[in-house]
Amino acid sequence: METWDAITARRNVRDFDDGPLPRELLERILEAGRRAPAAQNWQPWDFVVVTDREQLTELANVAPGAGHVAGSAATIALILPDTGDRGARDRAQYDLGQATMAMMIAAADLGIGSGHAGVGDQELARRLLGFPEDSYAARFIDLGYPADRPLRPIRDPNRRSFDEVVHWRRW
Ligand SMILES: Cc1cc2nc3c(=O)[nH]c(=O)nc-3n(C[C@H](O)[C@H](O)[C@H](O)COP(=O)(O)O)c2cc1C
Repeated sequence: METWDAITARRNVRDFDDGPLPRELLERILEAGRRAPAAQNWQPWDFVVVTDREQLTELANVAPGAGHVAGSAATIALILPDTGDRGARDRAQYDLGQATMAMMIAAADLGIGSGHAGVGDQELARRLLGFPEDSYAARFIDLGYPADRPLRPIRDPNRRSFDEVVHWRRW
């Protein structure tokens, strides 16, 4: 796909077909996240990758909005340091957003659907994934080929209008 097509075709996919993701494609997506920019090149993230069906089914219980993780071909748990410092936490969240979008665009480029899932139950996530006590699971990205229809550029996305969002020179 062209970059612009990948950007405009990405959408949250929550229903995946049964096919596995080839390891090299999964690694390409992870590499996009690893290369993401971060404040002072801090790179606060770690990624835990899950492809085992039983583990995915259990991971889907971390929050009500995470049910779609169970049917994914792979899920990447995005782990951040649990710093008590508000500024550091904000920076890490911004950085992770960049890594997230890089991975989602890389996935779309390969025709692979991606979705976000919030993580409520940190103890369950930690038991299943084994990340250290001084860190937390900030979000999951679940991946797989879309079950409904292939990714295609979306002409009219469900978004606030361009003119409402964009302010030239001053608000
Ligand atoms: C920070 C963030 C958290 C999200 N959390 C969830 C979630 O827990 N479960 C879910 O199904 N979708 C989640 N989403 C997906 C959004 O609902 C979705 O991106 C938005 O409705 C726009 O739809 P689109 O991604 O298909 O364009 C999240 C998205 C973001 C950016």
